[in-house]
Amino acid sequence: MLDFAIDLAHRAGALLRAAQERERSVEAKGPVDVVTDADRASEALIVGAIRERFPEHAIVAEEGGAAAGDGRYQWLIDPLDGTMNYLHGLPIYSVSLALLHLGELQLGVVYDPSRGELFAAERGGGARCNGRALRVSAVAQLERALISTGFAYDRATRPDNNLAEHDRLLLRAQDVRRTGSAALDLCYVAAGRLDAHWELGLKPWDTAAGALIVREAGGQVTDWAGRPWPVGEPRIVASNGRIHAALLHELALARQP
Ligand code: IPD
Ligand code: CA
Ligand code: CA
Repeated sequence: MLDFAIDLAHRAGALLRAAQERERSVEAKGPVDVVTDADRASEALIVGAIRERFPEHAIVAEEGGAAAGDGRYQWLIDPLDGTMNYLHGLPIYSVSLALLHLGELQLGVVYDPSRGELFAAERGGGARCNGRALRVSAVAQLERALISTGFAYDRATRPDNNLAEHDRLLLRAQDVRRTGSAALDLCYVAAGRLDAHWELGLKPWDTAAGALIVREAGGQVTDWAGRPWPVGEPRIVASNGRIHAALLHELALARQP
């Protein structure tokens, strides 16, 4: 199944890359949130291939692709993570595929077509980028850490918009990035390129694959209270483990009135 998922992510990524050269049609999902024909084409390719090969598997995909399945295996699919970047021609976006077995993360694959990087992990089998083993960083102090975050599309209307947390961490970490693809942010934590990522308001398909990849690279993934992150929890903190407690502490302080 890992080989199947890797092949599928490569094919969907190639489709996205080719489609980026062409004129795109764009639909608004909300004031900021959009979906393009490329999101939909990538999802159709992925969902079609899974249904054909594994008709008994359940599917949950961002743009509405769904299948009920027999209750054992479930796929969580983001056919294009980083749609805003993609739309503007900024080459930071990915395809994210996760497979759960009886509710537990079994495999995760994230593909970045712009850099040709394929991140993959299988439960208990470690994490890899293009076949090379991944390991989280060894940075032990928040002041030396390069960390990342993101903001939900409904940030203008939701009270917990992550701005207070961002402002606090920007002054306490070495620096803060906002790449626009949560799935890639998590892979970069696994690869030691970032020391942590935090975010709120995320959907199951944004985080499932990346969370497994971080864990399999030796990192820690929790909710904002420090409990092991359950699949689908919208608030995530993923780190190299060493700066985890300090980051949770700063997030808690940022939320105090
Ligand atoms: C978005 C990206 C972004 C995150 C947003 C997500 P999409 O996913 O992952 O980094 O900050 O919260 O919605 O809409 O591009 O698939
Ligand atoms: Ca997404
Ligand atoms: Ca998406």
